[in-house]
Amino acid sequence: MDVVISPMPHTAAERAGARVAEAIAANPLLVLGVATGSSPLGVYAHVRERIERHGLDVSGITCFALDEYVGLPEDHPQSYHQVIRQTVTEPWGLRADQVHVPAGTTGDPRQAALDYERDIREAGGVGLQLVGIGGNGHIGFNEPGSSLGSRTRIKTLHPRTREDNARFFGGDMDAVPIHCITQGIATILDAGHVLMIASGAGKADAVAKMVEGPVSSACPASALQLHPHTEVFIDDAAAAGLLHRDYYDFAVANADSVPGA
Ligand code: GLP
Repeated sequence: MDVVISPMPHTAAERAGARVAEAIAANPLLVLGVATGSSPLGVYAHVRERIERHGLDVSGITCFALDEYVGLPEDHPQSYHQVIRQTVTEPWGLRADQVHVPAGTTGDPRQAALDYERDIREAGGVGLQLVGIGGNGHIGFNEPGSSLGSRTRIKTLHPRTREDNARFFGGDMDAVPIHCITQGIATILDAGHVLMIASGAGKADAVAKMVEGPVSSACPASALQLHPHTEVFIDDAAAAGLLHRDYYDFAVANADSVPGA
């Protein structure tokens, strides 16, 4: 993993946002995996600026969201259909048909999960996947104990996740749905390039386990250690638990100084 530590959250978001913009510029037909949560918002804002000020062309990209609540109407303000519409689709000026989110309100969510996995495959797979991390180490909604070989499926949300996300539901944990459809860990690992973005002291423990802990379903994000191209963009506070922090800084400072390269 390449761990890039920035002094402030907005610097981490700008660096990750620059990566996304570069990837779109290099491949205008990019299949981009997008995430919900507060962590990627600065990344989306940076890409929007590239679109508006620098003419970045996003008309050919396709987006796939990581997850969706089961049973929350698509027009509910906290459904991930709405969240992605408001944070990505509309600000970037994408057409609705460019953006896919798992269908959490069909009569058959299990089939919807299988269909979503197939849709990703038929789109050629995700080229660049943006992910955040839950306080308990989840990625997407792959909660602790998730199979590292999992594919898009229904999961039961962890009480910690429902507690963390209650802030989006008027502080009422009981209003947070119990089930979700999430891309699996193996689905996420299929992406060509993974960008993790996290900030704040509340993520420090999960980030340390993800980067330096054993690969274990106890911390689903640790599975990213198995991915050949994961970049982790974090701020100082989220880096607080890393044992080898100095080394990561040194590696970033020397990234472009390989003799003969
Ligand atoms: C949510 C999402 C994840 C997200 C995580 C962290 O539950 N399903 O994809 O990464 O929680 O959210 P935040 O960035 O707001 O801390």
